[in-house]
Amino acid sequence: MINMVIDGRQVQAQTGWTVLETARQNGIHIPTLCHHEAVEPSGACRLCVVEIGDETWSKIVISCMYPVAEGLNVKTDSPRVKNVRRWILEMLLAQCPASPEIRALAAEYGVQTTRFVNHDPNEQCILCGLCVRVCKEVVGVSAISTIGRGVHKKIGSPYGVVSDACVACGSCVTVCPTGAMSARLDAIRGVHAGREAGKGGK
Ligand code: SF4
Ligand code: FES
Repeated sequence: MINMVIDGRQVQAQTGWTVLETARQNGIHIPTLCHHEAVEPSGACRLCVVEIGDETWSKIVISCMYPVAEGLNVKTDSPRVKNVRRWILEMLLAQCPASPEIRALAAEYGVQTTRFVNHDPNEQCILCGLCVRVCKEVVGVSAISTIGRGVHKKIGSPYGVVSDACVACGSCVTVCPTGAMSARLDAIRGVHAGREAGKGGK
């Protein structure tokens, strides 16, 4: 077992655990968006930041990918952590101002507006890629992926055509932290229903 401290509490972790896993095992809350136990972490959203170190030296790391170590001292809610989270939430708010989940999370940290440029006021997706990873790693079909580049980057199927690989299982909707996937799956299901009806008529 590894002995470490989180928010002043002595806790134990197993070798190979991350700081986030250890915090959760001990009932300590760290906010996350792109993390899900069923898939490998990707470090996409950065919301799970924590501070490690002591009074003389510290740094900010993402807890969902940072491995535990003997004697590690972690702060999950220090002024520095809160400040970094506010910056991240401002960026997320600029990326997807139409997501009620992101707006509510930002408000929790006192973030009501953003200084960053928004390219689509109707956007709800933070491009965390969780839906893509679940589709690939859990469902095993890779029906969706990240398409486009820069400000045109989005989640979809190649060329915007629904993939035959999609089984309309809804796993992407279930894991999506912002509600962005709901409307997209409705469209996918509609296409599937149409295809099945078409087959029946042949
Ligand atoms: S649709 Fe949801 S899960 Fe997929 S990338 Fe966007 S926010 Fe993340
Ligand atoms: S939950 Fe750790 S980076 Fe998103």
